[in-house]
Amino acid sequence: MEIRFQNFGTEQWKADILLAPLCGGENILEQCPELDVAAPWLAVTPGMRDVTGGREEIALLHGHPELPIPRVLTVGLGPREKLDMNVFRKAVAGAARHCRKLGFTSLLLPEPALARLPGGRERLVEESVCAAKLALYRYTAMRKPTADARHDPQWLALGFDGKSEQDFLHAAARRGETAADAVILARDLANTPGNLLSPAALAARAEELAREYGFTCTVLDETLLAGKGLGALLAVGQGSAEPPRLVIVEHAPLGHEQEKPLILIGKGVTFDSGGLCIKPAARMHEMKCDMTGAAAVLAVVAALAREGVPRRVLALMPCAENMPGGGAMRPGDVARAANGDTVEIVNTDAEGRLALCDALAYAQQEWTPAAIIDIATLTGACAVALGTGMAGLFCDDATLAERIQACGGVCGEHFWPLPLWKPYEEYLKSEVADISHTGPKEGGAITAALFLRHFVSDGVRWAHLDIAGADWADRETPLCAKGSSGFGVRTLLELARSV
Ligand code: BES
Ligand code: MN
Ligand code: ZN
Repeated sequence: MEIRFQNFGTEQWKADILLAPLCGGENILEQCPELDVAAPWLAVTPGMRDVTGGREEIALLHGHPELPIPRVLTVGLGPREKLDMNVFRKAVAGAARHCRKLGFTSLLLPEPALARLPGGRERLVEESVCAAKLALYRYTAMRKPTADARHDPQWLALGFDGKSEQDFLHAAARRGETAADAVILARDLANTPGNLLSPAALAARAEELAREYGFTCTVLDETLLAGKGLGALLAVGQGSAEPPRLVIVEHAPLGHEQEKPLILIGKGVTFDSGGLCIKPAARMHEMKCDMTGAAAVLAVVAALAREGVPRRVLALMPCAENMPGGGAMRPGDVARAANGDTVEIVNTDAEGRLALCDALAYAQQEWTPAAIIDIATLTGACAVALGTGMAGLFCDDATLAERIQACGGVCGEHFWPLPLWKPYEEYLKSEVADISHTGPKEGGAITAALFLRHFVSDGVRWAHLDIAGADWADRETPLCAKGSSGFGVRTLLELARSV
């Protein structure tokens, strides 16, 4: 769905349908005397007076067919005191879905009406564009085009009164569009079946995006990985016919090439069968999205390059397929990680931390980071602890932790702090190697995080985001179809934009 602007006088606005926000009893359109387009509706349409503006209420009103906008969809936001950005996003998303169901192909959102709502004009514009686009997302790449897809809304226009300065609002709309496109890219990658998205295919996609948006991309293949000593990542890929890759992308805009980069690291396990410690069959197919972290950091860098954000950001994606082939790593094997430490592999299903520890060590060898944030579908234990609606946040740097939580709060992604509890480091002691990579089932998200911290040097600002559970939607919600949610993309983008 394309985003357009109608900047001229409101009497010339044109679309299939006007989205009219209503705030519990308050008809926002009535508060906008400058909206000529609304006048006929307010004057003659009894329907406008019948709706209550309650949360999730949606009503379709038809006007005279000759009107430039012949229909109105009222969008109930509930009482003003209780209106927050989550309610607002859901309402806009619901309205966009409703328009699709009814087959309307052009929608118009009156910005002067948004300006009367709490939350700030720019934010409301950004969030409404982003919400409308995310609401309409579905993964269609594997199917023949269906008949109803033809009726998807083709464009959403923001209507402005044409009298005041609007550039800052256009920019806000573009930010919302870029954010949504980034989430959509991550969802598409994560929803792609494992047979079609091998580590090499993910690397090729990163190279393609780098050309399209103008950032750099370097791919280390299995020979280079061996040369640089990334033995833990190589171990993960050993049992697969598809060799591992470390994909490195960098957004370094002019004048910022020398600054310390923000380094994002995303787990890129393109399929996680569990390896020899094989997973139960029941939900194994969902493990095609075990590369959501990699998809998220790639999408963020693509968005930053597209926007030209004046900040240096790198993303590392350790990619491998965890399979139980004849060459697979065995429980009891010892791998040598990039920092030289030996790692005893206890459970081959704890492959994510093996891929990540090498990327963490390698990143610190090659660069001096301003901060490192890793994001990974790392542990079932995190999903058990927090449920599927939020991600775990492990970070001993209070400033960084607060920023991540604040950025998440702004865009509706929630990160709950979990402890890097030092006494549990004891569980990672190995009889044979420098460190064991798996602790007991209890506190599994914490020991995984402690294992990662072993590879982070003192003094390096670091946060670990465990998005297992949050990355996947078991049921449809207004902003997300079933399948990959693209969780984390918006938060990391918000963070990189606001530094
Ligand atoms: N990719 C999984 C974690 C996961 C589970 C993500 C469910 C999303 C939904 C990870 O590689 C894994 O298998 N972790 C194990 C670790 C255990 C063997 C220590 C787990 O959580 O069971
Ligand atoms: Mn696993
Ligand atoms: Zn995994």
